Amino acid sequence: AVYQATASAPVNIACIKYWGKRDTKLILPTNSSLSVTLDQDHLRSTTTSRADPSFKHDRLWLNGEEEEIKDGGRMATCIAEMKRLRKEEVEDKQPNEPKLSTYPVHIASFNNFPTAAGLASSASGFAALVSSLAQLYQLPVSPSTLSVIARQGSGSACRSLFGGFVAWEQGTKPDGSDSLAVQVAPQSHWPDIHALICVVSDDKKGTSSTSGMQRTVETSPLLQHRIKHVVPQRMVDISKAILDRDFDAFAAITMADSNQFHAVALDTEPPIFYMNDVSRAIIALIVEYNRVSVAKGLGRKAAYTYDAGPNAVIYTKKENVKEIVELIVKYFPQKEGSFKDVFGLFGGADVAKSEGSVVEGFNEAVAKKFEVGAVKGLIHTKVGDGPRALGKE
Ligand code: DP6
Repeated sequence: AVYQATASAPVNIACIKYWGKRDTKLILPTNSSLSVTLDQDHLRSTTTSRADPSFKHDRLWLNGEEEEIKDGGRMATCIAEMKRLRKEEVEDKQPNEPKLSTYPVHIASFNNFPTAAGLASSASGFAALVSSLAQLYQLPVSPSTLSVIARQGSGSACRSLFGGFVAWEQGTKPDGSDSLAVQVAPQSHWPDIHALICVVSDDKKGTSSTSGMQRTVETSPLLQHRIKHVVPQRMVDISKAILDRDFDAFAAITMADSNQFHAVALDTEPPIFYMNDVSRAIIALIVEYNRVSVAKGLGRKAAYTYDAGPNAVIYTKKENVKEIVELIVKYFPQKEGSFKDVFGLFGGADVAKSEGSVVEGFNEAVAKKFEVGAVKGLIHTKVGDGPRALGKE
């Protein structure tokens, strides 16, 4: 028999940021976090796992290149935990099932998005890994249980085990068994939420999340305030905003939390800067866009958020996407004057043709300050579903 399974998993972008660990080995966070899962029709990792008693040892290929599985490392931990679940949940209970937990596995994973998209692939990657092994091992366990294992690969990966709007509850137990992802609302609750990823730089240099957040834990007094007095209420408030489909509140909290995450990075010794001039100009653009909308009594129409790099993710409702794309085309033109790298829902051709346009009421004197550089690529996507089992492909 051939024991093989394939699964795909989505990317997620946090609205309430995870930044800081209380246990670096188990990857237990210092605060809860909340994200939107993005549509894997556009951005995904796809992983095939095969178990075979004739394999000599576990092996891993990422985008076709073999990667070493380091002993005691995150990848080895995830594979070992999945084998343990196979033994406990299947083989110990049904002695006639094949002892797949004793077979080495070969794992091949692909991202369909280019590194030039400037997106971290570890979240979708570890979520696809545990999803493919869960299918291979026929595990009768919930996505939250799988999230505990994906979390040990990369913290943010635990949130990619669900679609829609997802919370990672920090938990209190030392063994991490209650530090897991739960779904706040499925994609179908608010399918109108779209995302525009503005690629400002595809530079991989800079401080990694893992080392940066550790330095913040060790040196930032502001992080202690954030953990105790800010994030707990924000988790409650943004969950309510999502359940009420209150975009204005969702946007206000998302932007405030991105700002505070970058403030604690700046409060780190030595300080960490993730945003650049173009990132800050995109913030100014969204602020002006929302000012006009609020003045008309319509509330905020867009929310920016930035992870550990300069690229912006803009959340908005579907009806506003075209307008925002045109603003970005106008104020952040590429040298060639068109966006060649646009992909996703909104066709590249549509955007490339656009001359860009202004919004009525826009303060053009303020807008002059936006023009500091190019946005190199745009990806248009939306809230999406959780991991997909693709069978024995
Ligand atoms: C800024 O999950 O990449 O994107 O757990 O060390 O692998 P490790 O870190 P990682 O950190 C993500 C940080 C963030 C915020 C977020 O996604 O919540």
